[in-house]
Amino acid sequence: MDSYGSVPSRGGGSRMVMNSPISSTRLDRLVADVAAQEPATVVDIGCGWGEALIRVLEQVPDCRGTGIDLHGPDIDRARASTRDRCVENRSTFIAGDAGSFDDSADLAINIGSYQAFSDVETALRRFHTIVKPGGRLLFGTEIWMSIPTDVQLSNMWKDASVDDCMLLADIVDVIAATGWRVLDLQESSRDEWDAFECGLMRDREEWLVANPSAPGVEEMSRELDEHRRRWLRGHRDVMGFATFVLGPIGKVNLEDGE
Ligand SMILES: C[S@@+](CC[C@H](N)C(=O)[O-])C[C@H]1O[C@@H](n2cnc3c(N)ncnc32)[C@H](O)[C@@H]1O
Repeated sequence: MDSYGSVPSRGGGSRMVMNSPISSTRLDRLVADVAAQEPATVVDIGCGWGEALIRVLEQVPDCRGTGIDLHGPDIDRARASTRDRCVENRSTFIAGDAGSFDDSADLAINIGSYQAFSDVETALRRFHTIVKPGGRLLFGTEIWMSIPTDVQLSNMWKDASVDDCMLLADIVDVIAATGWRVLDLQESSRDEWDAFECGLMRDREEWLVANPSAPGVEEMSRELDEHRRRWLRGHRDVMGFATFVLGPIGKVNLEDGE
């Protein structure tokens, strides 16, 4: 800490509800849906700071939950939230790679983090080994709202490719082919995306405004300007986000991936 205060890290997101384009209102709706099943156990793979998992624990008094994420500071934040919200004794948060997770649960959550299990299809197959029969999977992922042009792709992240996402209808086909049924489907709005993108940058923008003569300001400004340019000229209105409540119907067409 110096006279300028500590410099906010990338990925801090202290003002964000979720590290995904999902509003607090939508998260409440999704949690109410899956909490109605009264799961006894829940696991969140790629849980970030655990907001979805913690809301489930708040809604289902006897439920116990485990969250796993690679990012240690997010896990620290999740643990602090469980203490503040009195669900500490029913939750376990693990800082580490979810790849080797081998437990099961009545409810699995995987929002914006299918990468923990490689790609969407592999993740959906893998969740059959985690979600108990009759359970639920709350699954959220980026989608293409339309196929991006080459110019849009060139303005997105480094090496962005049309293969990085799927159209909503194609994801629903993969969901069906991997033995899941869609119980609910919600697409995030542009407002939720704008709040998400601004939230990703907000801690650092606030620091810049508060410390305009601090060392490192120019570099941070350039980085944030580049992030905003890629969003506004690249994926805004091309990339969407869909969240599904899924129920398993067994290992339909799973042979190839097993
Ligand atoms: C976009 S964030 C979503 C976080 C959270 N689900 C949410 O919506 O707030 C994706 C998260 O997946 C985590 N992640 C990616 N690969 C992982 C892996 N192999 N094991 C555990 N976590 C992983 C990242 O660290 C990151 O926190």
